[in-house]
Amino acid sequence: MITGWSDALMEEKTISISFLEFETVDELPEVDRELCIEARNALSSSHSPYSEFRVGAAVRLKSGKIIHGSNQENVAFPSGLCAERVALFATGAQHAGDPIESIAITATSEKFNVVDPVTPCGACLQVLGDFEQRQQSPIRVLLYCLGKNVLVSEGAANFLPFQFIEQRLKKEI
Ligand code: THU
Repeated sequence: MITGWSDALMEEKTISISFLEFETVDELPEVDRELCIEARNALSSSHSPYSEFRVGAAVRLKSGKIIHGSNQENVAFPSGLCAERVALFATGAQHAGDPIESIAITATSEKFNVVDPVTPCGACLQVLGDFEQRQQSPIRVLLYCLGKNVLVSEGAANFLPFQFIEQRLKKEI
C-alpha cells in the first residue's frame, strides 16, 4: 500500500511476470540449446575494448536461418550498439518477412566472472517488443549464463510490460 494518498481516489495495481529457469543449457530442447551455442559463438565478433564485456546474440528465424549479433562499441561511446539490436536490425535489414522465433543472449567479461544471465537493456527490450508487434507473434527470449543457468521467457513483452506502443503512430500499409 502506498501511503499519503486518498484510498478513495486511487487503486493499487500489480503486474507479475513469469519465466522458466533451467539449471543448465543441456536441459533445453535441442533448438533452444543450439541457439544458446550460437549466441556463445557470436561472442567472438564482439568489439568491446572499452567495457571489455562481450555480449553475443543469436536470432532464429522461422525459416531456420540463424543471425548473429554482438556488441559493437565506439570511441564516441553512445555511438555503439548492443548485441541484441545488432542482431535484430541485421534481421530486419536482410530477412524481412521471415519471422523471428527466438533470440538467445549471453555474455562474458575479461575483467570478472559473469555469474548471472545477462538481461537486455530497456532499449533492446523495446526493439524486441516492436518486432513482436510487427510480426504479430511472440519471440522466445533465452538468457544464457555460460556454464550456468538459462532463463526463458515466452515473449519479450513479458520483460517490458510498459513498452511504448502507440497504434496511431503506425503507418497504414
Ligand atoms: N550490452 C549488450 O550488448 N547487451 C546487453 O544486454 C547489455 C549491455 C553491451 C553494451 C556495451 O557494449 C557493454 O555491453 C557494456 O554495457
